[in-house]
Formats: sequence, structure tokens, C-alpha cells
Amino acid sequence: MDGDGLFRADGVTKVYPNGVRANDAISLHVALGEVYGLLGPNGAGKTTLVKQVIGLLKPTSGRITLGARDLVADPAGARQLCSYLPQAQVPIDSFRAREAIVLCGRVRGGGRAEVERRADELIEALDLGQWRDKRGIGLSGGVKRLVGFAMVTVCPGRLVILDEPTNDVDPLRRRLLWEQVRRLGDRGVAVLLVTHNVLEAEKAVDRLAVIDNGRLVAEGTPSAMKAHDRGYLRLQLMIAPGRGAPALPPFAHRSTLVGRNLMTVIARQDAAVGISWAEAAIAAGAAEEYALSATSLEDAYIELTGVNSSDDGADGDGDGGGYGGSSSDGGGPDDLEG
Ligand SMILES: Nc1ncnc2c1ncn2[C@@H]1O[C@H](COP(=O)(O)OP(=O)(O)O)[C@@H](O)[C@H]1O
Ligand SMILES: [Mg+2]
Repeated sequence: MDGDGLFRADGVTKVYPNGVRANDAISLHVALGEVYGLLGPNGAGKTTLVKQVIGLLKPTSGRITLGARDLVADPAGARQLCSYLPQAQVPIDSFRAREAIVLCGRVRGGGRAEVERRADELIEALDLGQWRDKRGIGLSGGVKRLVGFAMVTVCPGRLVILDEPTNDVDPLRRRLLWEQVRRLGDRGVAVLLVTHNVLEAEKAVDRLAVIDNGRLVAEGTPSAMKAHDRGYLRLQLMIAPGRGAPALPPFAHRSTLVGRNLMTVIARQDAAVGISWAEAAIAAGAAEEYALSATSLEDAYIELTGVNSSDDGADGDGDGGGYGGSSSDGGGPDDLEG
């Protein structure tokens, strides 16, 4: 690695005035061309970290650099080198979608013809054609999100930071968006992708870090993070309506309850007894069905953070802010340690 263009956070710590230690000695690096996922439950400290990268917040201690540039010492330079899609919606109410995208590219210094070509390419790739000349005020949250993505990537800096880019976006266009995220990496841009959706991120990232309580608790490629779970299987049980979760068998290593879906992780050699246990629960009317499968990145994530990431509801209730990450808390045998 030549180190040129490498994005690097070294021991970044942020303590807010109210005493909350939102980042605690976080170190990571992202190479040009790499898509790097920053995963973690609500309140983990992800947004705090990216706000320091683009100079919106000053670290309490630690260094943030891009190549030879010190982004903390030079916040204006940071904003020029980085493109940032904030977690909150971009305010484009009085602009038409294509107009807003083109304007952003021009403000960043792109030539008119190139910016217009790229704007049209993004509108096509994200399937936004029907809203091209509609004003922001009339757009749904998900469409605004996609327009925001196009605005920050029409003329991208060397580091593109996307904070929860798929919020409120419908499943079909989410897929289109992930393709464009991958495309950014292929174009030699470093991408820092913040999300709490592990399953989606797994397909888009080269490497990822899991942040919990302000600390980086794991880092690696998706397959390396899963390797930790080699030798284990996921046994899922759909609990019958109106019935409580059945007592966990002694061989369950850990479990999470999301709605009626009880997810347990068991050792491979316990597969047969696991199936017997699940079938007995069905025979007793306590459960409706079960599935036995390989563990996923999601299982590794649950073990690291104790939070299930996937229940944010692709159908979206449109609040754009809160997440269902803790909807399984309070009652129910979630997070039983084996
Ligand atoms: N401006 C602020 N002042 C004080 N505490 C804050 C502020 N912003 C965020 N926090 C707290 O810092 C922690 C991390 O928040 P945040 O970085 O937004 O997490 P994430 O993006 O992972 O959900 C949370 O406990 C949050 O309540
Ligand atoms: Mg956040």
C-alpha cells in the first residue's frame, strides 16, 4: 500500500459536553477503491464518527487523515475531499430533482456537460426518471433519499460517506442503490458506508467494522467475521401466534427473539437434537415451522452487539429517524447467554 489517499482514523475519541463518550479510541483505515461498512446499533457512535471526518465535530483526541492531509486541522479541506450524505434528509424542497443533482455537481466544480451526463446516468440507474423534474417538496422520503445520494455522488470526492443511505427506500431501489455504491468503489473512490442493516451491507462491502458503545469491537471481511461462527448453525423457530417462546434447550448457544421469530445458534453436532426439539415444539402447537441454515453475518453481529439489525421494516413507517433495533427488548427471552 502506498498510503497515498488512504483514509485513516487513529484513536479517535469523542466525549460530548454532557459526558457521553460516543467514540472511544476508534482506529480504522479505508483504501481508495474500497467500500468499508460501519455497522452498529442505534447510539453506537457511527454518526458521531463520520461528523468528525468532515469537520462538523472536533475529536476530543485522535487523528483523522486522508493521504497526507490532516482533516481535523483542515475542516474546509475535509469537506472538499469528502462527499457526505447525512443521516437526516437533505433539504431540497424548492428544487427539482435533476436540477438539485446538477447544481451539486457544479458547486463541486464539475464541468456542465460531464455533470449533466452523470446526473442522467444516476437518474436512470436509480430508476428516478418519473421524478426528474418534480420539486423536492412533493417527493416521498425514499425518493428524496435517492436524490440525495445522486447529489453527493454526481461529482464525488475521494472519500464518499453515506450515513444510512437506504433509509425509507423501497426494496427494489435499495438494490439499485447498492449497485451504485459498489460502482463508486470500482471507480477508485473510498466509501465509508454507515448502516445498521447487516444483511444488506454484507453484499456491498469489502470490509466492515462493528461499533458498539463507541468502541470498535470487530473488523474484517464479511467472510472472516463469519468464520468465527464456523461449526455452528442457525436454528430458527416460528412461534405460534399467542404462544410464548418455548424454553430454550441446553444446547442453544445464544438466541434472539424478533417478533415471533426465535433465532438460536447451535453447534453443528447438535443439528439432530435441534430438529427433534423444533419438531416437538410444532407437535405441541407451540411453533408453526422451523428452519436450519448456515449462520450469517447477522449471527456474528448479534453475538457482538446483542442487537438484531434486520427488523427495521423495509416497508418503512416513514419516520426516517427512529429504528426498530430495540423492538424486541422488554420482555421475551432475547439474548440468553449459553
Ligand atoms: N450532540 C450530542 N450531544 C450529546 N450526546 C450526543 C450527541 N449526539 C449524539 N449523542 C450521543 O452519542 C451516542 C452516539 O450517537 P450517534 O453517533 O448518533 O450514534 P449512531 O449514529 O451509531 O446511532 C449516543 O449515546 C447519542 O445519544
Ligand atoms: Mg447515526
